[in-house]
Amino acid sequence: MKIDFHSHILPGIDDGARTVEESVQLVTEMVGWGFERIYCTPHITKKYRNTKKDIKEKFDILRNTLNDRKIDIELRMSAEYRLNPETWHDILKERELMPIEDKYILMEFPINDPSDMGDINPIEEFRKVISLGLTPILPHPERYFYLSHDRLMEYVDAGVMIQSNYGSLAGVYGNDVKERATSLIDEGTVSFLATDMHNMTYIRTIDAWLKAGNPLWEYAVTQ
Ligand SMILES: [Fe+2]
Repeated sequence: MKIDFHSHILPGIDDGARTVEESVQLVTEMVGWGFERIYCTPHITKKYRNTKKDIKEKFDILRNTLNDRKIDIELRMSAEYRLNPETWHDILKERELMPIEDKYILMEFPINDPSDMGDINPIEEFRKVISLGLTPILPHPERYFYLSHDRLMEYVDAGVMIQSNYGSLAGVYGNDVKERATSLIDEGTVSFLATDMHNMTYIRTIDAWLKAGNPLWEYAVTQ
């Protein structure tokens, strides 16, 4: 089954789709690529302090609109949890986690500034999630320029699985990110690819990449 488990397609909740119409446009293109199930994973960060209730509200709006327009896709709800002290600790305390496929949790780092993690030690947080019977996934490590390869491997050894972005391979974030993603895939570190869909720029770039003959991955790749 073709599953995309990382996307920002819910309207007006983070830096992804801004309106329901834009959401529908993104989903329509993704269905055209062959996705059968899409997870909505809005950011939960110090900037976007979304709760489960906020996400559910937007999710219902999009779900109903897609039903009305007979767009055939299984839509599911989760989140992309950033390791910001302002939000992450409360989420763990209040059992607010919404696992993907009853199992996976997207745990992202700040894109540019690691000091936004405060005194959070990622390995400790990965272990807490594992102790709940869940599997942490680190999305798009190729985008964290401050993250060394050695450190990334320490995380993998601690039990985190790695997801790269289709957009990284397609060139959405430039050549350096593309090279880093390609080498992580070549060495076998990456278990999953996901769209991390935000807007039509992602659609156009990934679409060109797919039309060049690159395939969607099955969502689970054995590691
Ligand atoms: Fe994301």
